[in-house]
Amino acid sequence: MIDIIAGARPNFVKIAPIIQAIQSSDLLDFRLIHTGQHYDKKMSSDFFDDLNIPKPNFNLGAGSGSQAEQTAKIMTGYEDVLNEQKPNLCLVVGDVNSTMACSITAKKLHVPVAHVEAGIRSGDLRMPEEINRMVTDSISDIFFTTTGQAVDNLIKLGHDKNCIHFVGNTMIDTLVSNIDRLRKPTVYDSIPLEAKDYLVITLHRPSNVNNHEVLVSNLESINTFLRDKKAIFPCHPRIKSTLQDNFNNFSNLIFCEPMSYLEFNFLVKNSLGIVTDSGGITEEATFMGIPCMTLRDSTERPETVNIGTNELIGTDIRNLKTPLEKLLGGNWKKGAVPKKWDGKTSERIVRILERL
Ligand code: UD1
Repeated sequence: MIDIIAGARPNFVKIAPIIQAIQSSDLLDFRLIHTGQHYDKKMSSDFFDDLNIPKPNFNLGAGSGSQAEQTAKIMTGYEDVLNEQKPNLCLVVGDVNSTMACSITAKKLHVPVAHVEAGIRSGDLRMPEEINRMVTDSISDIFFTTTGQAVDNLIKLGHDKNCIHFVGNTMIDTLVSNIDRLRKPTVYDSIPLEAKDYLVITLHRPSNVNNHEVLVSNLESINTFLRDKKAIFPCHPRIKSTLQDNFNNFSNLIFCEPMSYLEFNFLVKNSLGIVTDSGGITEEATFMGIPCMTLRDSTERPETVNIGTNELIGTDIRNLKTPLEKLLGGNWKKGAVPKKWDGKTSERIVRILERL
């Protein structure tokens, strides 16, 4: 029995193909644990519906809170589940608080931990995700990586190379199996939008969106740099509370609710380019060959820059002007798809788990 842990949006995208691969295995079975870190329909159940993820066996209902509060609620919730029945393995994905909280809880109760997306590092410890990655990797027993560089990172950290498996990217598995089912969001016809004639923006990191002045000033700059191009901005709930009633001050920006998986990727696939502070989106953009500008100073996914379509812009918004002009002028680099990002990663993971 494998416990599969999922708590936040990007987790749902990463576990969907692993669950499907386990379901077609004769040797493995699983319990799905939803920590409840994300709970709004648009942040959670819409993803379960779009990606045909089965109903969780447990929902820990952790909800929002400070870093410590949220982590603590997930840990105590999962500990109760483990005290009832222990699985043979706890499988965590990515780098969100649920990932770290459940890996610690499992390990302390002597349940081995497998980490999918292990070994990636940004070096920026101001981001909670980097701490989550470091802690999770430090106590994991099995490592599944998206790149060769992540393997090297883990070996440098002293992990046994027999426990590290370069399998590829389960987020790309999900994209490969859904690319023909992507669904036009309503905003597409209501604006209306034309393919390759608009941009997509996503910002959600506290450093970019928690401060009202910083957010408004960044959006003003983006609005100016866009000249007369429109950009669609599906908003993480945090934006709403920061921006309050200032949504109408940016003539080129079209704000909307968070989108479900199939709608969001339809929007990205047909866009001219994307401006984001997400990590996962840079991988999806790379796979789809869509120009991507990342408003961060570092990335744990350097392959999206070295091989793919992503460029690291930094957090000083003035640095976005030149790359955006380049994009609008039709001069973006082409990019290629990293090794093993081929839609078969979850099958590889399941074959390895069967063997173990
Ligand atoms: C989390 C992950 C981040 C990931 C992101 C994807 C951590 C540390 N961060 O960030 O790595 O990129 O998910 O979206 O785990 N909220 C709602 N409804 C919800 C969920 C959240 O309104 O369903 C609001 C709450 O006000 C909450 C805030 O969003 O306080 C932040 O949610 P939280 O889960 O703490 O972190 P995210 O920023 O979503």
